Amino acid sequence: MTDLTLGQSPVHAALDFFDDQHPPAGDFLRDVLTGLAATPKSIPPVYFYDAAGSALFDQITGLPEYYVTRTELALLDRIGPELADLAGPGAVVIEPGSGSSVKIRKLLDALDSPAGYVGLDISGEHLIAACEELARDYPDLHTGAICADFTTGLSLDHLPLPQGRRILFFPGSTIGNFEPDAARDVLAGFRQGMRAGDAILIGADRVKSPATLEAAYDDAQGVTAAFNLNLVDRINAELKGTLDPSQLKHVSVWNADKSRIEMHLEALEPQKFEVGGQAFSLARGERIHTENSHKFTPESFQTLARSAGFDVLRSWSDPAELFSLHWLEPNAKA
Ligand code: AVI
Repeated sequence: MTDLTLGQSPVHAALDFFDDQHPPAGDFLRDVLTGLAATPKSIPPVYFYDAAGSALFDQITGLPEYYVTRTELALLDRIGPELADLAGPGAVVIEPGSGSSVKIRKLLDALDSPAGYVGLDISGEHLIAACEELARDYPDLHTGAICADFTTGLSLDHLPLPQGRRILFFPGSTIGNFEPDAARDVLAGFRQGMRAGDAILIGADRVKSPATLEAAYDDAQGVTAAFNLNLVDRINAELKGTLDPSQLKHVSVWNADKSRIEMHLEALEPQKFEVGGQAFSLARGERIHTENSHKFTPESFQTLARSAGFDVLRSWSDPAELFSLHWLEPNAKA
């Protein structure tokens, strides 16, 4: 069921609409128990992002080793005029998994008289606050928020959006955190909600030297290690866990076969522990796999985009070819 609260709502007065699509909450306990019972053990990365994990991720984005965010921001600055030409006047920007307000502001500032902005996220509270702030700072922009899970597609037809070309903005290389089949499904889900002439501006991190990648995911200050280990704190606090974080080491490793950087938690000593009343054990050196971050070549990204029904119309990279932004349009044949 969809709740559509139009602008008069005193609760979200700054927004033109708030559409709560009631995404089902993830089941943290079930997913952790399933992942710990598997071989090798794993935990889905979606559980990194509680308040503490989100604050740590914000810190990661400013680390010297984590080139991703600053490179994408500089690229957005450089290509702004081209984006304005490509999008044309009066575009409506839709941001699935809306995150960094700095990036969306750069895009909105670059475009020619954008008509609207819609943030979409699974967590309504943070989303509404971010969209309201944007609405106050861009009073001429028709601004709305959708509480939904973007991995299950986009449902936009019932919304009071301005006319105009829709540009989906999906920065940060979030697409790289999905397995290849899931990444294709996410993009294909976006495509289903798009009309001819709409487009996606998407960030995709590039394959580069393993040393650069491993440092980006294992920084000298230990912020990424704290981000990874925060999962253990969450499990212990929320799921009656008894894991000993002092006996777990953060590991980042480049998997060349799968073109991805992996994060793991590795047991320094054998340990027995419980989660939600169930017993588990870790042997010395055994790992819990916590994240994959796939890296792309121009060719592998094009293959992914095509498999989801898109043509890559333009691609841009920084001079060191660390990171790319791509402009995708629905392929007429799909
Ligand atoms: C959110 N995502 C794109 C980040 C990445 O680079 O894969 C998450 C992250 N994990 C460790 N550092 C950053």
